[in-house]
Amino acid sequence: MARGHERVETHLGLMVILILIASSFGGLVTIMPLFNQTGLLKPVEGIEPYPALQLAGRDVYVREGCYVCHSQMIRPFRAETERYGHYSVAGEFVYDRPFQWGSRRAGPDLHRVGGRYSDEWHRVHLVNPRDVVPESIMPGYPWLAENPIDGESVRDRMSALRRLGHPYTDAQIEGAPGAVEGRTEMDAMIAYLQGLGTAIRTRR
Ligand code: HEC
Repeated sequence: MARGHERVETHLGLMVILILIASSFGGLVTIMPLFNQTGLLKPVEGIEPYPALQLAGRDVYVREGCYVCHSQMIRPFRAETERYGHYSVAGEFVYDRPFQWGSRRAGPDLHRVGGRYSDEWHRVHLVNPRDVVPESIMPGYPWLAENPIDGESVRDRMSALRRLGHPYTDAQIEGAPGAVEGRTEMDAMIAYLQGLGTAIRTRR
């Protein structure tokens, strides 16, 4: 036994190969069970791929970097569920590419912000947060109200997402330019925020 061990320690190549085998086994043991856990891959009841306007809003959210200050991931701790609502579950994110979990909370978590405020509140808040929350350090995004949405590009993005497995119908994809016609990035952002986390509702 001792001689075998010595052989490994004195042969660098052999040791590297054995280390690779050992660590890849460790990786497989961690990853493999997830392949069979349908709960992680199956959408929760009530989750649909984002409608055209919300999808456009989500892209603006990503472009503006809202995730730098806001997480969308409520952890299963009492302090979080009391404040934000039901903790986040994997099946709520199946149509999020890429997900917006974030890693920093300069502002509140937004995963269940849908329905918490009126559209008008969001409109005022997004133009100048201090008009509704005087002590806010959030920047304003007044230009969203002036930027129109490009319907053709929303349609193309929906068909790209369908190729990745999002169950959009032909009618939804073809109807995208019509669905966002005349709407601004502000409308899209508000539609997106109002839909966030609404599939699971436990808030009072
Ligand atoms: C510099 C950090 C920062 C950035 C960037 C930021 N926010 Fe905020 N946000 C905050 C802070 C702080 C608050 C809490 C004060 C307030 O309500 O304004 C907040 C509050 C909010 C709220 C109200 C949440 C609640 O539950 O009361 C919403 C909605 C929101 N932000 C959306 C956005 C969106 C959309 C973007 C991107 C366009 C964004 N934020 C970018 C810091 C930020």
